[in-house]
Amino acid sequence: MSIESQELRRILGHFVTGVTVITTKDVAGAPFGLTANAFTSLSLTPPLILICVDKGAQCYSCFVDSNIFAVNFLHEDQQEISRRFATKGADKFAGLNWHEGAHGVAVLDGAIGHLECKIVQSYEGGDHTIIVGEVLHGVAGHDRPSLFFQGKYHRLPDS
Ligand SMILES: Cc1cc2nc3c(=O)[nH]c(=O)nc-3n(C[C@H](O)[C@H](O)[C@H](O)COP(=O)(O)O)c2cc1C
Repeated sequence: MSIESQELRRILGHFVTGVTVITTKDVAGAPFGLTANAFTSLSLTPPLILICVDKGAQCYSCFVDSNIFAVNFLHEDQQEISRRFATKGADKFAGLNWHEGAHGVAVLDGAIGHLECKIVQSYEGGDHTIIVGEVLHGVAGHDRPSLFFQGKYHRLPDS
């Protein structure tokens, strides 16, 4: 018998991650996005990363339609933005500072880095789809990241 999903969620919460907001756009070019920590590097040559997107996400079809997305690595002071992009039905971009990246998807101001990607593969992953993106463009600074552990946001300790 498989593990219960609540217990799996609890155990997975012991794995520390960063927090990203993944942005994409609809066919009319309007921005969409969701908070995600199912992000990982995949390959340097060719340059690939992967994300996992819930098939039930409201923005799910935008990934299929636009074939493009950006991964924004959140700053430790962007917890409110993370909560907002994890809330279904929220007006996610209202009052938010963002700009169009080099490839036309939303890049969030204040994020500590971002990657702009085109979708090159998708795979079935249970209730999620595993999306492989080829990195077209990327930027990162030296700011402090937002961390997620046991269902809560954390900061790196001062060194
Ligand atoms: C810290 C955190 C990490 C998350 N990671 C993912 C993820 O990797 N993939 C995903 O599909 N949803 C993830 N979610 C849930 C989505 O952000 C949330 O369901 C969102 O509202 C879905 O987008 P929608 O509003 O377009 O439906 C995460 C939520 C939080 C708070």
